[in-house]
Amino acid sequence: MNTTSTSHVSGFRCLRCGAEQPKSFDGMLCPLCEYNLDVEYNYAAIDPHNWMNERDDLFRYSALLPVSNLGLTPVQRVGQTPLYHAARAGKARGLSQLYVKDDGMNPSASFKDRAGAVALVVARERNASVIAASTTGNAGSSMAALTAGVGFPCVIFVPATAPAAKIAQLLVFGAKVIAVQGTYDQAYDLCETACEEMGWFNRNTGFNPFTREGKKTCSFEIWEQLGGQAPDHLLVGSGDGNIISGIWKGFRDLLALGLIKKMPALYSCQSEKSAAIATAVRAVQDRSAVDWKALKLPTVKSETLADSISVDYPSDGIAAMRAMFETGGDAITVSEDEILRAIPDLAQSTGVFAEPAATACWAALDKLLTMKTIAHDEKVVCVITGNGLKDVASARKTVGQPITVEPTIEAVMAAIT
Ligand SMILES: Cc1ncc(COP(=O)(O)O)c(C=O)c1O
Ligand SMILES: [Zn+2]
Repeated sequence: MNTTSTSHVSGFRCLRCGAEQPKSFDGMLCPLCEYNLDVEYNYAAIDPHNWMNERDDLFRYSALLPVSNLGLTPVQRVGQTPLYHAARAGKARGLSQLYVKDDGMNPSASFKDRAGAVALVVARERNASVIAASTTGNAGSSMAALTAGVGFPCVIFVPATAPAAKIAQLLVFGAKVIAVQGTYDQAYDLCETACEEMGWFNRNTGFNPFTREGKKTCSFEIWEQLGGQAPDHLLVGSGDGNIISGIWKGFRDLLALGLIKKMPALYSCQSEKSAAIATAVRAVQDRSAVDWKALKLPTVKSETLADSISVDYPSDGIAAMRAMFETGGDAITVSEDEILRAIPDLAQSTGVFAEPAATACWAALDKLLTMKTIAHDEKVVCVITGNGLKDVASARKTVGQPITVEPTIEAVMAAIT
């Protein structure tokens, strides 16, 4: 059966000021403070022993997604990415339960497919004419891929400096690509204005409440893959802060259903050169008494090579901070060099090739181990949010040259001895 009701959705709540909206609300931002909204569910109506369906993608969790028509889902299989036990890398760090969630295995090769899949269904249910999104690269290439699959119009605003592979994806999938000669933040604002002018469905991160809902499915998968348990610690790269906020939401859902007893500690990992969230975290004196309504997040001048987490103003920064403070996690910053060196380290110790934004968490793991005592047998998950083939130019900076030889066996023998 493709059509279900949305009776499981109870409404929306602002994560900054707490104001509630009814489920019939069709705006995107909190009408009072303009922060982005969180979808709320009627947990009492969901059977925790029988809430997953038989699908092999993230719509397996439709009982906890804000969609009703599963006939409108993308053609590609989004989600259900592998969780690898990184035994060798863990042993080197004194951890027996270190895991890597390889979200680069999604159809457009990034975590963003989770958000795009749910946004696509909502847009189609609302009879939108066009989906528009701003992107550092991945959210857009994802939206382009998923809309191409179902023949839905898509407009993407991307900084002209985005890596070639991501721009190629956008064009190959046939999106209308607006390459903005400016920053991601400028592309973000332009997209918002264009959507207001044209009446398009705006999938912008930290604006559209449904991206967080798609992203939370990563937590459900990790929980299933760990045999019905949450990890103790989870690290992920942050730019806008929407991925960490989605992961937080997924574990909040599981907690509300009584399926886990304790939240994992969540860590937002950023480049020192794009550290708005970490800067805001460090400015807080008492993490248990933050006045979220009054809190102002800083705008930084981002200069990181990790393009996917290159953000001046984190549009979901408040939710990201709450995710850390309410789970006992933290913000961790790493240098550009550490991010680059983590690319071959992750690849050679786990077999997973990641783009720079996705290795920020791998670099941050070593920092975390020096900052905090993690017991030998605690479960630690690093979420690898984008595939390394998205940005081979950065990867090539970290490794030597191949051994170039004349095409003779003598030359090979001479080269390898
Ligand atoms: C590969 C990758 N990692 C991390 C992020 C950061 O996600 P967020 O901006 O929601 O914090 C992004 C966002 O584009 C991404 O593409
Ligand atoms: Zn509000």
